[in-house]
Amino acid sequence: MTKTANITIDGKTVDLPVKSGVIGPDVVDIGKLYAQTGAFTYDPGFMSTASCESAITYIDGDQGVLLYRGYPIEQLAEHGDFLETCYLLLEGDLPNAAQKADFDYRVTRHTMVHEQMARFHQGFRRDAHPMAVMVGCVGAMAAFYHDSTDINDPYQRMVASMRMIAKMPTLAAMAYKYTVGQPFVYPKNDLDYTSNFLRMCYAVPCEEYQVNPIISRALDRIFILHADHEQNASTSTVRLAGSSGANPFACIAAGIACLWGPAHGGANEAALAMLAEIGDVRNIPDFISRVKDKKDHTRLMGFGHRVYKNYDPRAKLMQQTCHQVLRELGVKDDPLLDVAMELERIALSDEYFIERKLYPNVDFYSGITLKAMGFPVSMFTVLFAVARTVGWISQWKEMIQDPAQKIGRPRQLYIGSPPRDYIPVSKRA
Ligand code: CMC
Repeated sequence: MTKTANITIDGKTVDLPVKSGVIGPDVVDIGKLYAQTGAFTYDPGFMSTASCESAITYIDGDQGVLLYRGYPIEQLAEHGDFLETCYLLLEGDLPNAAQKADFDYRVTRHTMVHEQMARFHQGFRRDAHPMAVMVGCVGAMAAFYHDSTDINDPYQRMVASMRMIAKMPTLAAMAYKYTVGQPFVYPKNDLDYTSNFLRMCYAVPCEEYQVNPIISRALDRIFILHADHEQNASTSTVRLAGSSGANPFACIAAGIACLWGPAHGGANEAALAMLAEIGDVRNIPDFISRVKDKKDHTRLMGFGHRVYKNYDPRAKLMQQTCHQVLRELGVKDDPLLDVAMELERIALSDEYFIERKLYPNVDFYSGITLKAMGFPVSMFTVLFAVARTVGWISQWKEMIQDPAQKIGRPRQLYIGSPPRDYIPVSKRA
């Protein structure tokens, strides 16, 4: 049965089609509302607005469910690896053994970056934030890989996708090496994706670097947890940038810029800074009072989510991974972990957080985990960007292939001056 909604504006009623997805809330299609009534809808922050159709990721925020192409995140994190998750997001299904071997091979063969990229880095200050370096270098990829910027050519789109997934760890490791003043380490193709990344970050020319398989597996799982999250701010940025026909490297650079903000991917850095600022479990009550004080503007970083009004399923997995990594590295007492666990316990039993349905999100435990792995705080959001690249690319590709795709062009409610005449400067008061 076709559903419709109706709306009455100034006495005129129009019927609006209602569309149903496979699961999740219906959407009211308001595409023709302006033509029929002369009115726009108003929804700052997209609180009730679906911006596209998508078959990639599904979130049920009330139940704490996250599915990639229908598969629960818990199963992928437990049994899958990051590259097969990439294949799944990009192609729509898990690869069979031959497809997996071929995909892994192709990604691995794209890991090197143009040698001039190394010289491009020299233009940055040594103390540049690695996210600033990433925004610049990923945008610059359009200049180095011009032969994969024609968005209308499916082959070029595929090559750009492979390049981006494969080269992002190399660029991320270069951004890190540059800030610590160490030589760049070339990728090594006999290593898996995540081990290769760890080696590019931590190897030095004067000694062999042994990848710890437990740490590599833990980081691979962290990558899986961050790989996609439907129409979040950075993904919507990528789609909006791409809707004008911009090349994929420019679109992903735009996504990285958006991810950097503390309300989004920058929250992992901000959460660790917050735990360090609290410093001791005895300071938690004071901190919680500041968070609850409306005049203070302090937020509990790594808590709350626009969509999850129940425990973020990624946070549960991240907490397990955190304990596993600390155990493996022999970190017996991490004061930041003590603060985090006590903060979580107190917040989850506090009326302020219960009422607002605020739970830990993926960023609450990721900082502690990445810090234990040896990453400086400034690299946390870079690691998020490495993992999210496949999500951005998959969503961008889906958008380009969607026959309904149009340039993204929101409207506005104008609240400025009414029309007025120009006054020569000599006559202005
Ligand atoms: N600490 C304290 N209060 C909070 C928090 C928080 N982290 N988050 C929301 N609130 C309160 C907020 O003050 C408001 O209260 P009131 O109704 O009394 O004014 C209420 O909860 C609703 O908040 P909102 O800002 O309207 O909610 P939102 O959906 O617009 O914001 C959010 C979602 C993620 C931006 C927000 O929860 C937040 O700033 N969290 C901290 C930053 C963070 O951890 N971000 C990572 C998100 S997960 C990773 C990712 O996707 O990037």
